[in-house]
Amino acid sequence: MSLHPPILAPSILAGNHSNLAESIEIVADAGLRWVHLDIMDGHFVPNLSFGPQMVAALREVSDLFFDVHLMLDEPHRYVDDFARAGANLISIHIEPHYPIAETLEKIRALGCQNGIVLNPGTPADTILPHLAEVDLVLVMTVQPGFGGQSFRHDALDKIGQIDRWRRERSLKFRLEADGGVDAQTAPLCKEKGCDTLVAGTAFFKAEDRLKFAAKIEEAPND
Ligand code: DX5
Ligand code: ZN
Repeated sequence: MSLHPPILAPSILAGNHSNLAESIEIVADAGLRWVHLDIMDGHFVPNLSFGPQMVAALREVSDLFFDVHLMLDEPHRYVDDFARAGANLISIHIEPHYPIAETLEKIRALGCQNGIVLNPGTPADTILPHLAEVDLVLVMTVQPGFGGQSFRHDALDKIGQIDRWRRERSLKFRLEADGGVDAQTAPLCKEKGCDTLVAGTAFFKAEDRLKFAAKIEEAPND
């Protein structure tokens, strides 16, 4: 029995960057409630995307749940800006050196849900000290920085391990996978305990987005 109903959060990184408002509308028109916003600083990852000003502009035109994924070396310097811009959930990586516990607490104090993220090469147990204090754990299933990469199957054991800890400790955080998630790989993540799936390329390139969304959001035992 899954703890939460499955949610698909399309990443607008794969949307139309000359008209992201339209990309957000495409997500809402597919009957979805979440959208994933990838924020990159050119340091923690070798790419740049967009900042709080863009998030605030999108908030003006959308009521969707904004799942904001900060790929930044110094996320603690920006959480206020993203909360003010209208983020509903802000997730921060475990890898860089900054006050992680304080930043997770601050995100909640700002009225948002918080999340902790691990890269493919980061062992699951690094997040153990924070597990009881998060609303979401995001397991990267590609090396972050770019959309359109292939799903890393070696991340599946890590997802399973984190799901076991969640059950053993009666915790309620959502468990999210991000990178290379499509109609083939989403069921593998769900089998291991994921209830939240990010998909950029697979969603925006789907022939029938409504059908794709319905397939990802169907309960595992349907
Ligand atoms: C990678 C981002 C992902 C990415 C997913 O750095 O965090 O959200 O955009 O894109 P796809 O689904 O194309 O792998
Ligand atoms: Zn992401």
